[in-house]
Order: sequence, then structure tokens, then C-alpha cells
Amino acid sequence: MRNFTSIQDVDDVNILVSEAIELKKNPFLFENLGKRKTLGLIFLNPSLRTRISTQKAANNLGMNTMVMNLDKEGWALETEDGVVMNGHKAEHIKEAAAVLGQYCDIIGIRSFPKLENREEDYSENILKKLISYTGTPIISLETATRHPLQSLADLMTIKELSPNRRPKVVLTWAPHIKALPQAVPNSFAEWMSDSNVDFVITHPEGYELSDEFTKGAEIIYEQDVALQDADFVYVKNWSSYNNYGKILSTDKNWMLTNKKLYYTGNARVMHCLPVRRDVELASEVLDGQNSIVINQANNRVYAAQAVLKNILENNF
Ligand code: CP
Repeated sequence: MRNFTSIQDVDDVNILVSEAIELKKNPFLFENLGKRKTLGLIFLNPSLRTRISTQKAANNLGMNTMVMNLDKEGWALETEDGVVMNGHKAEHIKEAAAVLGQYCDIIGIRSFPKLENREEDYSENILKKLISYTGTPIISLETATRHPLQSLADLMTIKELSPNRRPKVVLTWAPHIKALPQAVPNSFAEWMSDSNVDFVITHPEGYELSDEFTKGAEIIYEQDVALQDADFVYVKNWSSYNNYGKILSTDKNWMLTNKKLYYTGNARVMHCLPVRRDVELASEVLDGQNSIVINQANNRVYAAQAVLKNILENNF
């Protein structure tokens, strides 16, 4: 693996998940693999889990880490080509990326979409330019369209807690007060469609994700029907893809409660976090025995460690 920006970068997903599960049992087995190698983590948006879990993963492999909140601590970045830079943006991504590539051996980038122009967001301009100009392997820490480190941790969690048969996994839309990106559900759908699970998506009409990610997954508009006999329910809000970036529904009936969990096969409840209690997901569910949101967050460390280990082994 050279870069980790989507499932397409992974040679064998099953092997990567198995490696993450093994690393969880013995996190320091490869503590010298990353010695004298530096991981740069560049954030253009806030983060708790991704920032800390990826640093911990790198530390477990003996790497140095450098973190920069480029949106607050760096020069304002120009990301378009051919612009006369006589405005407030002081540095072009071409130089910034090339310079970061001098200091770091692997670079991670978090860059959320603006949710104003679908074509622009889905072009992944910043990610592509980093890959072009740094000269280093690049890891997505969540970009406009995908969050692959989250999806790998999610698949690992499902594998660990699956019943002894092909599980039914339901991705359900949830209400939210803000317009959120489609990156987490896009990515989750993409990874699930490549896994040995029965995958169903449920959301109000108008919230269809791009088929590039859902790849013909079953969509059921009645949440109660979709939830029947589910083994895992992944709760997540996203804004509309077709009516790009818009909030089309705030219907509170879509929030998962214990009453709704009754329709499932005692399903485990997942969410990538952060979650707004009693807006997206009922507190009674989050605090109940079916919630595995903390397991997912814990697995972020070993998912990141498996990815870093793979990149270190194949590129240095
Ligand atoms: N799930 C996730 O990526 O969390 P952060 O935004 O806190 O990193």
C-alpha cells in the first residue's frame, strides 16, 4: 500500500482487518518498525478520535509524530491553480505540500467539504494535490468524500462482535441540527458492500447517497422495516447529496430509541462519534448494553496502526 485514501488502496481487506485485530492483542510487537520515521498529521478541521488514535498508533510503531492545525496555525492556503495570489491567501498548496514532504515520511490530512459545490467537494482537490506534491505516502484522516480509517475500525468492530453467521448491518440516517458531510456514510457503505454482510441503508427520501459508494445496496425508506432482524445498526446523519449539502428533514422519529431497537435482533448500535445525545441518538441507547461506540473508538488505534505498518513495510 502506498496511500490510504479509500478501500481501493487496500490489497486485501480481510488481511488488513486481521492484522488490526492481531495488533490489538500485541500493540508493541512492531515497536521499532517506525524508528526515525515521522508522521505528519495535518488538520484543516477539528478532531478528537482521529488525531489522538493515529498519534497513539504511530507511537506504538516507534514513529515520531508532528501535528499541525493548518487552518489555525498555518498560512491561509491557496488550493487552486493559476490564481494571482493578491488576496488574503499567503501560501500555495504546491509549496506547502512540498515543504511538508521534506519534514515527514508519511502525511495524514483531514479536510472536510464546504458543502456548497458538489463537483468541487467530490473532486478531492486538496487530497489529490497533496498526493502530487508531497512525494510521501498520504493517509486520509477524513476528506470530502470518505473516512477510510473510521470504516476500517468499523469493519474490525463488526468482525469482532459478529454472530456465527453472515450479519445484517443497517446504516440508518439520523436527525441533526447542522448539515454534515456524506464522508462517513459513503465510506461505510463502500466498505460494507465489499464485506461478507447483508447491508441495508435506510433514510428519508431525498437522502440517497451516490451510487459510486452504495454500489446497489438495498435502500428501504421505512426505518422500522429496515431495522428488522438487524445485528448491527450504524447511526449517522448526513446532508443531502442530490440537493447538495441541504437539510431536507429534521423528523425526530428517525432518532434511534430503545423502542426502535426492539425491531432488531438485539442489535449492536454503532456511531463514529461525536454524537449529539437525544438529537441523533437517544441517551438510553448510548448508555445501554447494545451500544458499541466506545469499542469502535478504541479500534481506531489498531486500524490506524495496521495501515501505518503496511505503509512502512511497503515503502521504506
Ligand atoms: N470519528 C471521528 O473521526 O472522530 P473525530 O472527528 O473526533 O476525529
